[in-house]
Amino acid sequence: MISGIAIIGLLYWYGQRLRIMPVPTLPAARRKALAMMPRDAKLVVELGAGWGGMTRRIRKALPNATVIAYERSLIPWAVSRVSGPVHRGDLFAADLTNADVVFCYLSPWHMARLAPKFAAELKNGASVISVAFPLPDFAPDAADDPVYLYRYRK
Ligand SMILES: C[S@@+](CC[C@H](N)C(=O)[O-])C[C@H]1O[C@@H](n2cnc3c(N)ncnc32)[C@H](O)[C@@H]1O
Repeated sequence: MISGIAIIGLLYWYGQRLRIMPVPTLPAARRKALAMMPRDAKLVVELGAGWGGMTRRIRKALPNATVIAYERSLIPWAVSRVSGPVHRGDLFAADLTNADVVFCYLSPWHMARLAPKFAAELKNGASVISVAFPLPDFAPDAADDPVYLYRYRK
């Protein structure tokens, strides 16, 4: 009982601090996002891994890619790393310069803060795949509701 309250309290506390709860991408959106990922991607960065369900599926769908995932919320992070390494770091500090694909399911607030980071760091040809929340002031190269795909050209 006490541990259940502590778990819910921790999830809520991190949810307030990070401005989003660890809600997993729904199966239909997951499939659409995975279908948009280039098969020859070498480095995929997932910003906000939640419980790690999508991280695991990306690793399975792209077995030749390195998948680097970030998750700050303690309990989801502890669960997510059962199936592979996940950094307990701040996603805004992630190095995106070598990423071929960035995957995220975050919030409008996160996307607005990430837009200049993507523009500054992503290399030519890199893709951003975002579930539910588009980048502000940036038309997607493709969309399959609720998934948006952006390709960076430099
Ligand atoms: C909606 S969940 C997405 C989970 C997973 N990507 C998926 O698609 O199933 C977003 C996650 O981002 C994490 N997050 C939010 N801000 C973060 C930050 N600054 N650094 C690291 N993780 C963060 C939250 O804790 C949450 O678990």
